[in-house]
Amino acid sequence: MPKPIIMDHPLIQHKVSLIRDKRTPSKDFRELISEIAMLMCYEATRDLPLKEIEIETPMKITTAKVISGRKLAFVPILRAGLGMCDGMLALVPAAKVGHIGLYRDPKTHLPVEYYCKMPSDIAERDVILLDPMLATGGSASDAVDALKSRGVRHIKFCCIIAAPEGIAALTEKHPDVQIYAAALDECLDENKYILPGLGDAGDRIFGTK
Ligand code: PRP
Ligand code: URA
Repeated sequence: MPKPIIMDHPLIQHKVSLIRDKRTPSKDFRELISEIAMLMCYEATRDLPLKEIEIETPMKITTAKVISGRKLAFVPILRAGLGMCDGMLALVPAAKVGHIGLYRDPKTHLPVEYYCKMPSDIAERDVILLDPMLATGGSASDAVDALKSRGVRHIKFCCIIAAPEGIAALTEKHPDVQIYAAALDECLDENKYILPGLGDAGDRIFGTK
């Protein structure tokens, strides 16, 4: 069972502190989420396989390494996961993008699926699932179920803020999924929001509150 990887690079920590601040406006919040996602992508793709090819530089023929193996897809969980997608695509522009729409029922806090559209070859791709918040873990677990039911075998989950409860739930249900987080927070409150967290990520990205 892979241990969660908490990316505590100083640049990531600094930007996470800025998005936690309730005074940060939506425009800056969106830009920072995208920048954090780009930095996380660098780490989450560290184990991509390489192969050697022969190329000719202006000086001589040499061998050089390029990425090989299965192709990537990014799958943001709507809505808030959308905020991470551009940052990831900036580093891997050839990746395809699938979308899964889930919202948490305000009373039960359980996820409700309302949309799913995946690239036709999703089963042949490695997937990086995106959502800034891992709270109870219900949404991430259901999204992984949806990917596995479509034949996806290699899934990583990238979030910005994780609660210990969410890590425990996702790891228990899907021990094969490597979790990457930019911060591991304290706990959930009575409404299943992360403390200290950053509030409602979707509302802060899209300015809906
Ligand atoms: C938020 C967040 C996650 C989910 C996390 O989405 O973006 O998808 O809650 O909570 P969980 O780990 O307890 O399932 P929300 O349901 O608020 O939908 P939104 O992104 O459309 O605002
Ligand atoms: N969803 C959010 O957007 N924030 C939380 O703290 C928990 C779930």
